[in-house]
Amino acid sequence: MATGESAEALHPAQDTLSVTDNRTGASYEIPISDGTIRAMDLRKIKVDPADFGLMTYDPAFTNTASCRSAITEIDGEKGVLNYRGYPIEQLAEESTYLETAYLILHGELPSRRQHDEWVHNITHHTILHENIKKFIDGFRYDAHPMGMLVSTVAGMSTFYPEAKEILDPASRRDQQHRLIAKLPTLAAFAYRHSVGLPFAYPDNRLSYCGNFLNMLFKMTEVSYTPNPIIERALDVLFILHADHEQNCSTHAMRSVGSSHVDPYSAVAAAIAALYGTLHGGANEMVLRMLRAIGSTARVPEYIKRVKAGEVKLMGFGHRVYKNYDPRARIIKKIADQVFEVTGRNPLLDIALELERIALQDDYFVTRRLYPNVDFYSGLIYQSLKFPVEMFPVLFAIPRTVGWLAQWEEMLVDQEQKIARPRQIYTGHRRRDYVSMAQRA
Ligand code: CMC
Repeated sequence: MATGESAEALHPAQDTLSVTDNRTGASYEIPISDGTIRAMDLRKIKVDPADFGLMTYDPAFTNTASCRSAITEIDGEKGVLNYRGYPIEQLAEESTYLETAYLILHGELPSRRQHDEWVHNITHHTILHENIKKFIDGFRYDAHPMGMLVSTVAGMSTFYPEAKEILDPASRRDQQHRLIAKLPTLAAFAYRHSVGLPFAYPDNRLSYCGNFLNMLFKMTEVSYTPNPIIERALDVLFILHADHEQNCSTHAMRSVGSSHVDPYSAVAAAIAALYGTLHGGANEMVLRMLRAIGSTARVPEYIKRVKAGEVKLMGFGHRVYKNYDPRARIIKKIADQVFEVTGRNPLLDIALELERIALQDDYFVTRRLYPNVDFYSGLIYQSLKFPVEMFPVLFAIPRTVGWLAQWEEMLVDQEQKIARPRQIYTGHRRRDYVSMAQRA
C-alpha cells in the first residue's frame, strides 16, 4: 500500500440502498453505482423461494438507464449537449458535419490524414445501385418521403448481404460508410420523385451538404454550385441533429439491432420511429401549426387551446431538457443568416410571438416547456424551399451517424443482450376454449 493511502481509500465502502420488505420483514442492501441500482438486484426480494422476485415498472422508460454510453452527454437541467465531451456550441461554430460524424463514430476528432480518408470514403459511396431507383419510381407521386426512405433503406440490405456479418468490425465499417454516404442520395431521389424531376446524380467534388443540395436542386446547369451560406447552414443543422443519446429512434436502433439483424434493417426501424409526430415528425407539424395559426393576432387563441388540452404547441417541450434546448438557440442564429439570403420567412413572426407568450405563461413555465430543436428548424427548411414532408428526412440524414455509433456501442458492450422487457400481465387467467356455437 502506498504511504498515506488507507485501505478505505483503496476500497471505499460501496454506497447501498437499504430496503426493508414490509411483506416479510427481511432487509436487503442494494448496491448503488453511477446513481443507479440494478433492476436485477431487486429480483432477490421475494416473499418466498417460489416468488419470481420484485420487478420495476417504468412505462416509456422515464427513469430507467438501458445502457452505458460514451457518445452524447445531455444535462437537461442546465441545457447542455456534448458529443464525446465537445460542447455542441463549439462544434457548430468550428467543425463540419463530416468531421463531427467521424468524432461521434470513432470517439476522437480526426487527424488531417484520418479526416481526408474519411471524407473520401463517404463521398465515394454516394452512388446508388440502379435498381434502387426502380423502387423509388414505384411509389406514387405523392408518397411521403419518410415512407420512401424507410422502405428503400430496408431494401438496401438485400444489395449487401455481407451486412449480416455484424460481429465483423470491417463489415460494420463498410456498412456505416455506405449508410452515411447514401442516405442523402436516397433522400434527394425521393424528393425528385415527388416533384416529378429526373434524378440528379451525386457530384463527389462537392461537400456532403453541397452535394446533397446539388442532388435536390440541380436543374439544367452543367454543374451545380451551392450557395456557401446555405451550404454551411445545412451543415450546421446536420451537426445539431447528429446524435441525441437514448431518444425514441436511437432506442429503436439499439433494440432492433440487439436481435443481430443487419444495420440497414435496424436503421429503417430507427427512421420509422423518427417519422412520428412526437419525434422527428415534429418539425413538419410545427410548420403546419404556424400556417394554421396564420397571423400573430391569432396566437393567444391558439395558446388558449393548448392550455385547454385541445392541441399541443408543437416544437415545445422535451423529455430531457427542462431548460432551453441548446440546439434551438443555435438554430435561431442560423435562421437570421439564412433569411439574409432567402428573405425573411413570414411565419417567423408567428413563431416568435408564440415563444414570447409561452415563455411567460404559467402553463408553460410550471411544466418547464421550452422551444426544442424542431421549433425553428422548419422555418429554415421552408425558406430553403423544402416541402414540409421533407423536414423529417432532413433530420434522418444526419441522425444516421448517431444511430450507427449507438448500434456499434451496443454490439460490443458485453453487458448487452437481445432487448426484451418484462410486462405486468393484466389479462384473463387461464380459461377454457368455448366453441363458437356455445358463445353468447
Ligand atoms: N404542448 C402543450 N403541452 C405540453 C407539451 C406541448 N408541446 N409538451 C408537454 N406538455 C405538457 C403535457 O401535456 C404534460 O402536462 P400535464 O402534466 O398537465 O399532463 C406536461 O407538459 C409534461 O409533458 P409530458 O407529455 O409528460 O412530457 P414527455 O416527456 O412525455 O413528452 C414530448 C415530451 C417532446 C413528446 C412532448 O413535450 C411533446 O409532445 N412535444 C411536442 C412534440 C415535439 O415538439 N417533439 C419534438 C421533441 S425534440 C426533437 C425530437 O426528439 O425529435
